[in-house]
This record gives sequence, structure tokens and C-alpha cells, in this order.
Amino acid sequence: MKYSTNLSFFIFVVILSTTSIMASNLKVGFYRKSCPSAEAIVRNVVNKAISQNPGLGAGLIRMHFHDCFVRGCDGSILLDPTPGNQVEKQHPANNPSLRGFEVINEAKAELEARCPETVSCADIIAFTARDSASRLGGINYAVKSGRRDGTISSINDPTGNLPKPDFNLNQLNQNFANKGLSLQELVTLSGAHTIGISHCSAFTNRLYSFNATHPQDPTLDPNLALILKGKCHNVPAGNPNGNDPTVSLDFVTPNRLDDMYYKNLQNHRGLLTSDEALMTNPSTVHIVRKLGSRGGVWAKKFAKAMVHMGSIEVLTGNEGEIRKNCRLVNS
Ligand code: HEM
Ligand SMILES: *[C@@H]1O[C@H](CO)[C@@H](O)[C@H](O)[C@H]1NC(C)=O
Repeated sequence: MKYSTNLSFFIFVVILSTTSIMASNLKVGFYRKSCPSAEAIVRNVVNKAISQNPGLGAGLIRMHFHDCFVRGCDGSILLDPTPGNQVEKQHPANNPSLRGFEVINEAKAELEARCPETVSCADIIAFTARDSASRLGGINYAVKSGRRDGTISSINDPTGNLPKPDFNLNQLNQNFANKGLSLQELVTLSGAHTIGISHCSAFTNRLYSFNATHPQDPTLDPNLALILKGKCHNVPAGNPNGNDPTVSLDFVTPNRLDDMYYKNLQNHRGLLTSDEALMTNPSTVHIVRKLGSRGGVWAKKFAKAMVHMGSIEVLTGNEGEIRKNCRLVNS
């Protein structure tokens, strides 16, 4: 017993030190000397954008997630198509839903004017996600920087790397584990679904075509289902002629990055199958209950998990490049 405790402690230490070696090239304040106002410039642009449209803050947090899960946090999500090459941002997981690109472009333009070819697009995304969390939820944390920009983006890459809204808990857990994130982090990061919107097509199966015996998902609160049916008609997903309205992910406090997500889940008001999935296993239910309890438990854990997510497969040192324009690879 004693021996096995020591052994697991030893393994724990090894895992800890490997993780810190992996992430050691990123550091807080990476631009302190090379571009002292970098983070302030980004923050101003984000605050201005969010005061016009809070939804952009939701978009920027989601953009960081979609960047990091595909080829690591390398800004590949920002690259535009070129002749013969379709890119990540054109994949159905991103198009037409992903928003906030114009905020990144504006921040980059100001940074290039102040400190040319210094601040990476990948870091800009990480800063904007943090600034959005600050503005929409009062959640403040230090972002490690020093990421470099990738040069490759393909429309095929999101498939198999980004989780889908109809995933069950095993699929979600596997997907996050592939990126080095824990079950606890899956539940914690899913709390971002306390802001922003979803297109109806991401969940209409729960309203109209759940399974052979139940057209409507019995685990979805019937009152919410009724409201959703009023907003979302039964249009087959991917129907180019069907319109695809949007609804809030959190009906209670739609623009506030708070822990309401976990209260909604406990009331069976998670919008997506992947949200409800967190209520299908005692271990995740336990985490949901804890994160939904008072005392800012979730906010601290969310900040920590965002920093961890921001270190996935990053390029550092001489890898990649500092793009001059976030939409184009340097020539
Ligand atoms: C766990 C697996 C996840 C799945 C299956 C998933 C899926 C989705 C889907 C389908 C939407 C709706 C997009 C639309 O139709 O407009 C959405 C929205 C959103 N997601 Fe997730 N997501 C997941 C995890 C995350 C994580 C880890 C984050 C960030 C930390 C995140 C942040 C957001 C935000 C902020 C929105 C609202 C975006 C907006 O209003 O523009 N999601 N997600
Ligand atoms: C449909 O789902 C319900 C609730 O999860 C379940 O009880 C039922 O067995 C399912 N029916 C089929 C045909 O899979």
C-alpha cells in the first residue's frame, strides 16, 4: 500500500515535470520588452468590440478553442483560402458560425503599426479570449505568450479534432483526452456555453428526430423544448434552402460568463446533446454540482483550464513564423 502510494506519487511528479517542460517556452509577459503595450492594445480593441456586440466575446472564446484543438494554438483558424486550398474556417464546424475574425484583424493592424512583425496571431487569439472572459464575466487571468504562427490550414483538419454537438460523454472525454485535457477540464471548459448562441441545426435532432420511439429527447426539459420548437423549425441539417435561426445557449443570463451553465444542466436545460451528456455519468454529475455551487469555484477553474488549453501543441522559438497579416502566410 505504502509502496504503491509512493509509486503513484512518483508518476505524478514525472507527469507534472514533463508538462512543465512542454509548456516552458511560453511565458507571461513575453512581449514586455519587444512590444510593451501589446496586451493593452488588444484589450482596448476587444472592449470596444464587445461594447458594440457582446456576442463577439463569445465568438472569440470559441475561436481560441477551435484554434487550439486543430494543429495546436497556432492561429491556423485565421488563414484564408488560397487557390486550390480550402481551409479550417470553411469547415461546417466554423462556417458560418464562428465569429470575431474582424476583431483579430483590427488588433493585428494596430499591433503592426506599433510593433511590426512582433506579436503572433496565435497569441492575439489567446489574449482576446482572456479579455472577453474579463469583460463578460470579470474572470481575470494571466495569459502565457510566445506562440508562433503555423503556415498550414486545411478544411479537412477540424473533422476528428473538434468535438461534435451530438457526441456522448465517451466521445467527448476521448476527444479532450487526445488533446491532453482531463474529464474535469472538459466539464469546466464546457461552462463557456453560458454565453453566446447556437444555430438550431446543432440540436434540432433533440426536438424532432431523437429516436424511433421518442421524437423528442426525454432528457430535455419539456418547457424549454416547447420554446425551442417555436424558434427552430424542423429543417434537415445541411439543407441549403432551409434557414437556420440561432438561440441563446443560456436562456437565463445569455451574455454573462457565469456559472449558470451548471444550474441549467441540473435543470435539464443544457441545449446541446454534448451539454446534457455531462449529466449521464455520476462522476461528471458530481463535477457539475461542485462547479455550480456558490463561491466562484468555477471561475478560478475555468481560468486555469483556459491557460492549459492555450498550451496545446504550441509552436515556439524558431518554429513557424510571426505572420504580418493573420489571414495570410508570409511570402
Ligand atoms: C465539449 C465539446 C463542445 C462542443 C460539442 C461544442 C459545440 C458548440 C456548438 C455546436 C456551438 C454552437 C455554434 C453555432 O451554431 O453558432 C457552440 C457555441 C459556443 N461554444 Fe462550444 N462546444 C464545445 C466546447 C466548447 C469549449 C471548450 C469552449 C470554450 C472554452 C466553447 C465555447 C463556445 C462558445 C463561447 C459558444 C458561443 C459562440 C457564439 O456565440 O458565437 N465550446 N459550441
Ligand atoms: C429512445 O430513447 C429513450 C430514452 O433515452 C429510450 O428509453 C428508448 O429505448 C429509445 N428507443 C429506441 C428505439 O432506441
